[in-house]
Amino acid sequence: MDIQTPEMYGYEGIKRVLISREEIQNEVKKTGQLLTREYAGKRLLVAGILKGSFVFMADLVREIKIPCEIDFLAAKSYGDGTVSSGTVEITRDIGRDISEYHLVLVEDIIDTGRTLLKIKKLLSEREPLSLSVVALLDKPERRAVEFKADHALFTIPDVFAVGYGLDCGERFRNLPYIAEASL
Ligand code: IMP
Ligand code: MG
Repeated sequence: MDIQTPEMYGYEGIKRVLISREEIQNEVKKTGQLLTREYAGKRLLVAGILKGSFVFMADLVREIKIPCEIDFLAAKSYGDGTVSSGTVEITRDIGRDISEYHLVLVEDIIDTGRTLLKIKKLLSEREPLSLSVVALLDKPERRAVEFKADHALFTIPDVFAVGYGLDCGERFRNLPYIAEASL
């Protein structure tokens, strides 16, 4: 673990670095290699859940060394910004018939698990050839429903994570590392 102080980066609202850029790069590369082997010869669609997954997604697909198609969807989970309430709505859908694809859903973080549980259920009903979930971060301590990602790159404690796509009130998405926000 990286213990650089946030002051080094000049960001107010950051408590400490949780996962450095180098650690992220290593794990993203390994996951890309795994997916490359897993989906070789298959028609692959990688779909990122906006907005939090956009940075991870961009790095991950470049580590997938087989042909694949890209799409995005967006979901809104109602809550006060840091805690999700359980009501999940798809606000931007994948614009195609997924029944011809092996679908890999890419998410930034699994917290209560409600968002992914719901999205996975909705998309399974459209019968993709297969469906798996890749999450950058997992906060298992916070789980409110049973949900397990097929691949989770990092397990983190119950802290609010920002950076590398993740936000707190729309801030910090552009940090190149993952940090703990001081709420
Ligand atoms: P869940 O439905 O509770 O699993 O919530 C998942 C969503 O909540 C994620 O896609 C994030 O948008 C948001 N979220 C949960 N925990 C964090 C965090 O630590 N930092 C930033 N966003 C988070
Ligand atoms: Mg999200």
